[in-house]
Amino acid sequence: MVYHHTEDIQKALLPYRKKNRSIGLVPTMGALHQGHLELIAQSQVENAITVVTIFVNPTQFDNAGDLKKYPRSLSKDVAMIETVPGNFIVFNPSPEHLYEGNVSSKSYDFGGLETEMEGTHRTGHFDGVGTVLNLFFRALKPTRAYFGEKDFQQLQIVKKLVEIEALPVEIVGCSIVRETSGLAMSSRNKRLNEAQLEKATLLHKTLVGASEQFETHSIEAIKKWAVAQFEKNPDVRLEYFEIAETNTLKTASEKKKNTSYRAFLAAFVGPVRLIDNMALN
Ligand code: PAF
Repeated sequence: MVYHHTEDIQKALLPYRKKNRSIGLVPTMGALHQGHLELIAQSQVENAITVVTIFVNPTQFDNAGDLKKYPRSLSKDVAMIETVPGNFIVFNPSPEHLYEGNVSSKSYDFGGLETEMEGTHRTGHFDGVGTVLNLFFRALKPTRAYFGEKDFQQLQIVKKLVEIEALPVEIVGCSIVRETSGLAMSSRNKRLNEAQLEKATLLHKTLVGASEQFETHSIEAIKKWAVAQFEKNPDVRLEYFEIAETNTLKTASEKKKNTSYRAFLAAFVGPVRLIDNMALN
């Protein structure tokens, strides 16, 4: 069942709330792929009902063209969710309805998590993500909400958001789902042709190479090596490659003892911007 209005979906959730049964939330922008289905499957196992939001959030796009081209496929998405066993409903509001006529972002201080990597390349992006998730969390009051680690920076920011907004929801991070080629699943992959899909595997290959070198090479040497991989393959334009502390997301130039690190990158294949990341230790 697809709901477009907050009051209607709240009514549908009322019987669960009254019986104290858990509600899982999987926020998406649609154009679903296997990665989303795995988040939904985990939520179905852990909750009495799952709400999947399908909403292309205008406030998190810093590029009007990217927003316009974002793939939209509601009926196909619903058919895909139906293949996952369990009890679900879909929330697909219009921007005007969800934002009550004021489609704009709140300004958040996520303690510095928002100023690294994606934050420096996508102005206002995390304010938009925080604003829309705050609206969903308050309207739907989920017990748990599920996010993929492909957007690892987003996952850390969502954990901070629920702390700032004092929201009683458990944030669950789920592993990245990859194609057999290694390419991280993403709705944006739908905009790539066969040749571009092959070229896009450079992102994952570079992360694997970085993780293999992590114990034996300096961060500076790994970063130089990573940049060189993209210089050799000009069809994939690197925006950034960073090694950052897992918890703070502070980009690192030297390794500290007892600290966990991840590598992060963003690159363009044609006009399509892709991101990926990987644990290094
Ligand atoms: O990861 C996404 O698809 C979006 O950022 C989210 C969490 C659905 C918020 O619009």
